[in-house]
Amino acid sequence: AAVVGRRVRSRRKWMRVVGVLKELEQACQTPLSRLRQVVDAMAVEMHAGLASEGGSKLKMLLTYVDKLPNGSEKGIYYALDLGGTNFRILRVQLEGRRSSTIRHDVERMPVPQHLMTGTSKDLFDFIVASLRQFVEKEEAKDSPASTRELGFTFSFPVKQTSLNSGLLMKWTKGFSINDMVGKDVCECLQQALSRNGLDMHVAALVNDTVGTLALGHYNDEDTVAAVIIGTGTNACYFERADAIIKAQGLPTTSGGMVVNMEWGNFWSSHLPRTSYDIELDAQSPNPNDQGFEKMISGMYLGEIVRRVILRMSLESDIFGPVSPSLCEAFILRTPLMAAMHEDDSPDLNVVARALNDVLGIRDVPLKARKIVVNVCDVVSRRAARLAAAGIVGILKKIGRDGTGGIAGGRLKGGGSSSSSRSRRTVVTIEGGLYVEYRMFREYLHEAVAEILGEEFSPHVVLKVTEDGSGIGAALIAASYSSSESVDT
Ligand code: GLC
Repeated sequence: AAVVGRRVRSRRKWMRVVGVLKELEQACQTPLSRLRQVVDAMAVEMHAGLASEGGSKLKMLLTYVDKLPNGSEKGIYYALDLGGTNFRILRVQLEGRRSSTIRHDVERMPVPQHLMTGTSKDLFDFIVASLRQFVEKEEAKDSPASTRELGFTFSFPVKQTSLNSGLLMKWTKGFSINDMVGKDVCECLQQALSRNGLDMHVAALVNDTVGTLALGHYNDEDTVAAVIIGTGTNACYFERADAIIKAQGLPTTSGGMVVNMEWGNFWSSHLPRTSYDIELDAQSPNPNDQGFEKMISGMYLGEIVRRVILRMSLESDIFGPVSPSLCEAFILRTPLMAAMHEDDSPDLNVVARALNDVLGIRDVPLKARKIVVNVCDVVSRRAARLAAAGIVGILKKIGRDGTGGIAGGRLKGGGSSSSSRSRRTVVTIEGGLYVEYRMFREYLHEAVAEILGEEFSPHVVLKVTEDGSGIGAALIAASYSSSESVDT
């Protein structure tokens, strides 16, 4: 009787865990019909955000980038890329003609955790100190730039007032330096440069998506939009001036402007939201904010998985007694989640090691390891498919999704005629999550093809751009500084 009782108890506990998994799968479903609703909602919100200030949760920010680099840019430019887990400093050499590889040196370093929540002075002094070291090292081996011009990639929502000024609207991705909100970001950097005696001029302030679009377009002129899927997620694209209704009369040299969507803050009732998302949001430093980002980007996916495993652990003892580490928010980072998801060893050694080393869960039976892989799969698949729907939403807005788009939002020269429908359209993508997480990438590509359909999907190309956010900022600084540049 004791043996039978044990078996029954064991079966029950497995059923409870499988129940949690099934419930998660159910809540995260993204059938084509739902993805189409997300596509439509994205296009509609884009219109609303362009129509009036505050018209949508999508801010659709002006960037003052009204021309994209075309290859005529020449000279040595610096770039500073701040906005994720790492920050980067670059020195870019432009030859005055398009080249398939742009010569550049880059230095990457992690942003110390305490500076992400300290004061703006501490953050900028630290950045400028690193920049100064870099400049000295570079100029010792190479000729100095005559005037040092810098493109500043700052990947947070900024209300720009010109190409090189803009006020920080709010922080995202775990940064929280209160004294900076509402301040001019360029001025903060320019002041830190003079305070520290580094002679350099901040020529352009760009979002990482905008830098990526600049390099993407430089490499391939059919590029119409750029997407970042890294610590955070966002997209930008080139919009016709007359479609930016909230900024009528804005002078542009090319009849259009790059718009930074800040799609991380997109929201729609069609998004498949779970109790884990709701709790994660409530306990995050920015509740009710960045809802789309919290379902998609690298900062959050591992955390969603941790929450599901914790729930399983609370409901049964398949992971042994509840481990204290498992209760720690953000302890399971997304790269580790990816490694578990992609573990192809027969006994799932990577999963076992990750659970042991990071979450303090020992001796997990194979059956439970498989469940963990399933959880990673559900969470990353949902994320990738939602990002895919976002991308098609942009294509729909500019009439490049094969359906003819919706009125008033087509790219110059783009329309719903059959020739423009079959025009090659490139979307460039950057960011650690997309680049490093193969399964995520595959799910995203699969979903884009699924939504666009067999006939149209061959016209849409998704391309990775490496270091685009930094190199692109230097390119933009160059194209607005040099008299040689010609409008696109
Ligand atoms: C966050 C920021 C946005 C940035 C994105 C990707 O969503 O608000 O500006 O582009 O992360 O880094």
